[in-house]
Amino acid sequence: TYIIALPCVDVMDRACVDECPVDCIYEGERTLYIHPDECVDCGACEPVCPVEAIYYEDDLPEEWSVFESVNAEFFDDIGSPGGAQRLGPTGSDHPYVAGLPPQGE
Ligand code: F3S
Ligand code: F3S
Repeated sequence: TYIIALPCVDVMDRACVDECPVDCIYEGERTLYIHPDECVDCGACEPVCPVEAIYYEDDLPEEWSVFESVNAEFFDDIGSPGGAQRLGPTGSDHPYVAGLPPQGE
């Protein structure tokens, strides 16, 4: 799977959403999350993120390794909706993201 890491938090550019052929990038309140079971590893989202927040799991920088479980656990309550568009913005975040101080310059 691909994973969205810290640079997306409080940025949420959403360019990635338009690139995903299976609509598996879901919107939280402060960041977006890739569904690990719905992502087909096509790689289309990664180059379009202006802040380089998206990584293939094997390439996720060590400092952001927690985001592998952050992306996965975000869906513990949601399950596998099979489409982010249909679900819409969830208005909530994984507790790790919710607890981060405001990001950005
Ligand atoms: Fe976030 Fe980058 Fe997508 S900032 S919403 S991962 S384009
Ligand atoms: Fe979607 Fe492909 Fe990225 S399936 S989440 S655009 S790797």
